[in-house]
Amino acid sequence: SAAPEKEQWRVLGWDAAGTIVAVGADVTGFSVGDEVFYAGALIRSGTNAAFHLVDERLVGRKPRSLNWAEAAALPLTALTAWEMLFDRLDVRRSVPGTAPALLIIGGAGGVGSMAIQLARALTGLTIIATASRPETQEWVTSLGAHYVV
Ligand SMILES: NC(=O)c1ccc[n+]([C@@H]2O[C@H](COP(=O)([O-])OP(=O)(O)OC[C@H]3O[C@@H](n4cnc5c(N)ncnc54)[C@H](OP(=O)(O)O)[C@@H]3O)[C@@H](O)[C@H]2O)c1
Repeated sequence: SAAPEKEQWRVLGWDAAGTIVAVGADVTGFSVGDEVFYAGALIRSGTNAAFHLVDERLVGRKPRSLNWAEAAALPLTALTAWEMLFDRLDVRRSVPGTAPALLIIGGAGGVGSMAIQLARALTGLTIIATASRPETQEWVTSLGAHYVV
C-alpha cells in the first residue's frame, strides 16, 4: 500500500537512474561515481527524491546508449513485462493445440509496449496487441506487433 503510517509521510516512485554518491560497507558490485538504474522496493522510501537508498542486488548499470530520462523510464515496466513473459507465462514453451501467438491487452501502455518489444525480439510468436486510438495503433505496430485489435 502507498498509504503512510499515521503521522508519517511516504515518498512515491519506483524507477530511478542516477550516480552513486555513497555505498555501504558490504557493497561489492558498485562504487561511488557509477551510473546506475533500477526499480526500487516497497520496503524502502520511493524514488521521487534527490537521494535514495537501494539494495545493490536490485541495481543495474545504466546503459550508455540511453540518456537519464530514457534510463529512468525503463526499469519497472521492462521488469514487469520480462517477468510476465519469461518467468510466469514462460511463453517460449510451446503449448500443444494452441497457435504460437501472444495477445497483449493494452499494448500501448507502459508494460504492454515493453512486452511487445521483448516478445518480438526474443520469441517467434505472432504478436497481437490491443490499442484503441489511431496513435496507439500506430505505436504498437512500430514496436513490433504483427496485428492490432
Ligand atoms: N507500469 C508499470 O511499471 C506496472 C508494473 C506492474 C504492474 N502494472 C500493471 O499493469 C497494468 C498496465 O499498466 P501500464 O502502466 O502499462 O498502463 P498504462 O501505461 O496506463 O497503459 C494502459 C493502456 O491500456 C489501454 N487502455 C486504457 N483503458 C482501457 C480500457 N478501458 N480498455 C482497454 N484498454 C484500455 C490504453 O491504450 P489505448 O490508449 O490504446 O486505449 C493504454 O495504452 C496495470 O494493471 C498496472 O497496474 C504496471
